[in-house]
Amino acid sequence: MDLEQLKIYAKENHVPIVRDKTLKKLLEISRKEDVKKILEIGTAVGYSTIAMLENNASVIMYTIEKDSERFKLAKQNIEKAGYLRQTRLFNQDALETLQDLVKSGERFDLVFLDGAKGQYIKYLPYLKQLLNKKGIIFADNINLLGYVNSDFVPHKHRSMVNNMKKFIEALKNDNDLETTFFNIDDGFSISQKI
Ligand SMILES: C[S@@+](CC[C@H](N)C(=O)[O-])C[C@H]1O[C@@H](n2cnc3c(N)ncnc32)[C@H](O)[C@@H]1O
Repeated sequence: MDLEQLKIYAKENHVPIVRDKTLKKLLEISRKEDVKKILEIGTAVGYSTIAMLENNASVIMYTIEKDSERFKLAKQNIEKAGYLRQTRLFNQDALETLQDLVKSGERFDLVFLDGAKGQYIKYLPYLKQLLNKKGIIFADNINLLGYVNSDFVPHKHRSMVNNMKKFIEALKNDNDLETTFFNIDDGFSISQKI
């Protein structure tokens, strides 16, 4: 499956993947010369993973996916695309993986944060430790389909929305990070460690 086919597969099978304009911005960043190692949280079926690898063939990719079916499929897709040797896949809850990566002293130039939306705030302290100086956190879906700026949020989404608001505030108030917010697609933020 090439990327276009993978995109169609994702749509037909209700697998959420990164939107086009967001991906374009992500690829602009991931192709920079000083981006040598990327961490992705939320592999799904490998669409954004393969897009970033295609875009920067020398990059080392670490990617985390909790769902075992999606993980299996992502691994197959990454293998078929020819990038398995430069990719480390984790079939685990992201928080656990992040804790392990911090313990083992790993460092990254770019983090693509695209896993459980209510967990971003929990991940932030670990991500800061995992970033190289000038490293970037690219966080997707920070608008949560508009709920983040809405007066009414259905009960089932409230805790996720509150956690996303906390994440956005934490980025704004963090003196170690310089953050720009983009109101494109479902909203994303780009934070650079200074
Ligand atoms: C938006 S999708 C990722 C899309 C992918 N980055 C792309 O653009 O092709 C989010 C993924 O995060 C996974 N996920 C949700 N909670 C997670 C967790 N706690 N740990 C790891 N993965 C998680 C979901 O199973 C889902 O596949």
